[in-house]
Amino acid sequence: MSETKAVLSFSGFVSWRAHLNGGYTTGPDVLFVPTMGALHAGHGDLIRAAREMADGLEDRPIHVVVSIFINPTQFDEASDFDSYPATPEEDLMLAEEAGADAVVFPSVSEMYPGGVPTRVERVDFGALTSSLEGEKRPGHFDGVVAVVRNLMEQVKPRWAFFGEKDWQQLAVIKRLVQIEFEGVEVVPVSTKREQDGLAMSSRNRRLSGSDRIGASALYAALKRVAESSDPPSKCAEAAATLESLGFDVEYFSVVQADSLESKWLPGKMRVFVAARWGGVRLIDNVACHH
Ligand code: PAJ
Repeated sequence: MSETKAVLSFSGFVSWRAHLNGGYTTGPDVLFVPTMGALHAGHGDLIRAAREMADGLEDRPIHVVVSIFINPTQFDEASDFDSYPATPEEDLMLAEEAGADAVVFPSVSEMYPGGVPTRVERVDFGALTSSLEGEKRPGHFDGVVAVVRNLMEQVKPRWAFFGEKDWQQLAVIKRLVQIEFEGVEVVPVSTKREQDGLAMSSRNRRLSGSDRIGASALYAALKRVAESSDPPSKCAEAAATLESLGFDVEYFSVVQADSLESKWLPGKMRVFVAARWGGVRLIDNVACHH
């Protein structure tokens, strides 16, 4: 692979693409991995999945493009936005190692030409946007949809890669793409975990040593519920166990994987948790065994 190109703007991206494509500025040629940076091995898996798919495709130039933009409109807490880690040099190295052809760093003014709006358009995809994260983080998915829509319009990918770590976001994006981006395929990538099971996340960098160790109790609780013969009946107990360890549990729920409705459908359910621990809000989810 040629050296990864750091592209600092959407307009730089369009010229880069045109340069590689013999003058054409669009085409069914981009595999896209949108991120907010502070890249870790979970992001690396998304980029590698895109690289592998790209290398398996023939007959046209295929580009793996990563975007890095800390999107202000999806943060419901100013302190979370202010302390969101930014590690651009390391990000570029990780993206290159994982096989990215270009890393785009759009500016705030490119993304929001009129300035960062205090409110973006409301998105109502039923339970997909109103349950779990939608309920606990008002406006969050409105901001995610606003930025992903803008990114997709600029980057014009044929494939877009999203992680199962943020399962609900993945479900929301699948719906968005189905409605607004005909011909684009959303490719899910499974959750990358630390050895003790903690789902990798950019926010984990904010956990101090002992908090980092204790954080793995979240995954252990999820697994216990997912493996039980009657998961919905075990959520309250699992949440209470986490609370007794010092977690502040926001939800611990079993819902349908595709619709996020709570009606029980054998073989179709997932367990979702959100909890604060050591000053960090952690989310995770796993499939139910039954
Ligand atoms: P960010 O949190 O940076 O995540 C970028 C992508 O990496 C998302 O699709 C996310 O689900 C995936 N990801 C994060 N941790 C992962 C892990 N441990 N294993 C596998 N995949 C993982 O999600 C966002 O950014 C933003 O909301 C974004 C979609 C970029 C819009 O701003």
